[in-house]
Amino acid sequence: MASLRLILALVAVAVASLSASGRGGNTGLSPGFYDLSCPQANGIIMSVLEKAIANDSRAAASLLRLHFHDCFVQGCDASVLLDGGASEKNSGPNKNSLRGFQVIDEMKAKLEHVCPHTVSCADILALAARDSVILSGGPHWEVALGRRDSRTANLTKANSDIPAPNSTVQALVAKFKRQGLHEQDLVALSGGHTIGVARCATFKQRLYNKADVTLERSYYNGLKTVCPKVGGDSNVSPLDFSSPRRFDNTYFKLLLEGRGLLTSDEVLLTGNVRKTVDLVKSYAENEALFFHHFAKSMVKMGRISPLLGAHGEIRNNCRKINS
Ligand code: HEM
Ligand SMILES: *[C@@H]1O[C@H](CO)[C@@H](O)[C@H](O)[C@H]1NC(C)=O
Ligand SMILES: *[C@@H]1O[C@H](CO)[C@@H](O)[C@H](O)[C@H]1NC(C)=O
Ligand SMILES: *[C@@H]1O[C@H](CO)[C@@H](O)[C@H](O)[C@H]1NC(C)=O
Repeated sequence: MASLRLILALVAVAVASLSASGRGGNTGLSPGFYDLSCPQANGIIMSVLEKAIANDSRAAASLLRLHFHDCFVQGCDASVLLDGGASEKNSGPNKNSLRGFQVIDEMKAKLEHVCPHTVSCADILALAARDSVILSGGPHWEVALGRRDSRTANLTKANSDIPAPNSTVQALVAKFKRQGLHEQDLVALSGGHTIGVARCATFKQRLYNKADVTLERSYYNGLKTVCPKVGGDSNVSPLDFSSPRRFDNTYFKLLLEGRGLLTSDEVLLTGNVRKTVDLVKSYAENEALFFHHFAKSMVKMGRISPLLGAHGEIRNNCRKINS
């Protein structure tokens, strides 16, 4: 017993020194971070997720998006999960839109029961996003772990740093660059829109403002029935209507046919940035290439400004900072 304690202490020292680089450093995250402290972590997350998807097939998409919206606002630090007046949940891109919070709560509660005060909410988001992609038929990647949770959220940053659905391709490229992500990451990660849905409010301007010539005619007419000129703002349409629950490369094939839902999807092909145009075509032809690049970019996105070492905390409840 004494020797076990000694080993654990040595491991703790090793882990702490690995993590010492602090916010902005990447070297502190490692796939084996919970191997000793909570080996059940991923099993618990996976089993809660399987149940959640069985109840609500959209849960996978919602959890993938949650990790993206976390990472783009002051790094992957679970700031998106905090409740309260200045919560990121109240920002334009998130309000009446982000979902999956109860699923994260259930994962956290189960983890607190088995390994109290050990697994961060930020790591739960990263694992849940990866597992959502796997359960939808997409690629697998190893998630580096050890992110800690923020004690702050930033509503202003959520409004300014998360790209809008009516963005130009130049604006998308700029917002991704701000996060250290490049054109290839932008196109590959936009392929996350192979699952899930969007509200009428996010694409209505394409249907009625002035005729959007890039939309294929029958697709356009179908969208108008879902999204009337007046009202219906929370009606939803799939981002990839041909296989909305399957993680595949159909999203890119649809873009080539003028059947991408959001302006931000469409401009990857029509926005006059050679690199994004070429990548859309490559991914439409080659699903393996898309999977490979998507996995690589998810790892990169998951490493945006983690809190490490003594920074931040391990929240007891993902919605609140520890008192
Ligand atoms: C490139 C810039 C992006 C823009 C402008 C954008 C915009 C949007 C919008 C407007 C919606 C619909 C929200 C609603 O109607 O409430 C949405 C949904 C979604 N987004 Fe994105 N997104 C982007 C990138 C990403 C990335 C990088 C990922 C993940 C890798 C992602 C994953 C998703 C998923 C899975 C959904 C469906 C969520 C659900 O059904 O609950 N998006 N996105
Ligand atoms: C099932 O999914 C719905 C959302 O579609 C959610 O409101 C509800 O809480 C879920 N029920 C369970 C038991 O998870
Ligand atoms: C939020 O971020 C902005 C910069 O984007 C900064 O000026 C502001 O102080 C931050 N607010 C909080 C509450 O941290
Ligand atoms: C996008 O929409 C917002 C408001 O809905 C508007 O202020 C902004 O100018 C639009 N941006 C573009 C590039 O059309």
